[in-house]
Amino acid sequence: MTVSQPFDYSGRSVFVAGGTSGINLGIARAYAKAGASVAVLSRKQAKVDAAVAELREHGGSVLGFVADVREFDAVAAALTSARDRFGELDVLVSGAAGNFPAPITAMSSNAFNAVIGIDLAGTYNVLRAGYEHLRKPGASVINISAPQSSIPMPMQVHACSAKAGVDMLTRVCAIEWGAAGVRVNAVIPGPITGTEGMARLAPTPQIEQVITESVPLARYGTTQEIADCCLWLSSPMASYVTGALIPVDGGWSLGGAAQ
Ligand code: HXC
Repeated sequence: MTVSQPFDYSGRSVFVAGGTSGINLGIARAYAKAGASVAVLSRKQAKVDAAVAELREHGGSVLGFVADVREFDAVAAALTSARDRFGELDVLVSGAAGNFPAPITAMSSNAFNAVIGIDLAGTYNVLRAGYEHLRKPGASVINISAPQSSIPMPMQVHACSAKAGVDMLTRVCAIEWGAAGVRVNAVIPGPITGTEGMARLAPTPQIEQVITESVPLARYGTTQEIADCCLWLSSPMASYVTGALIPVDGGWSLGGAAQ
């Protein structure tokens, strides 16, 4: 069965922090294809330029911002600029993340703080600065978390700590912003094909095979499958969903596939 485009985001504006590669670019692309005006933000000019060029092929308005999510003022300036161009924002996605495998004893405090700064403080920065510009009521925030938020993994103390914080930040903001009609949710992608995260965490075909065998659906997911969940989550079809942490992982987080 094929699914035609079930969501129409024409006239809507979407800001994706981290939207220039991997899962986040897939999300930005899906909103652009659904008719939204889309802004993306990441650290490297070349990646921003490439993403903007690709997203413009879908015909809508696209903006790109070069900024580090660890720098609040730069993030706030980008969000203000997007609001000035697009009007108030309908969807705010916070997905910028950093990761590398290392045991805690090989991780300097600078290394630990780099991931906490990007994943957790960066999400705070995006949400704190973005809230001012959301179309209230009716706007939706989506944080991109990771299975590490609830599953302790060796070599991942930075990401586990940061993403656990992202999940809690999601739930607290859902409570605080509910009365204004702003929903706040998190999507928790499992192993997704073609992403930098999986290239770092599963660098060989052998490790990839072991992970695939631990997924009940017996395969990696796609960036499109994460984006599809986001399109639904920020739509009126999910109007009573807030504070949810939604795994999109083929059942990976259940703890093992049937043998
Ligand atoms: C130990 C390391 C290291 C490693 C970097 N560091 N890599 N320490 N082992 N493999 C240390 C550096 O030595 C330095 O500490 C500190 O981390 C900061 O490194 P910088 O490169 O100076 O910082 P920065 O440019 O800010 O880079 C941030 C980064 C980097 C997180 C360290 O890897 C990065 O930019 N990544 C972005 C892309 C990325 O990771 N994408 C994947 C996200 S996927 P010292 O002490 O030497 O100064 C994801 C979800 C995965 O998060 C989920 C899978 C299921």
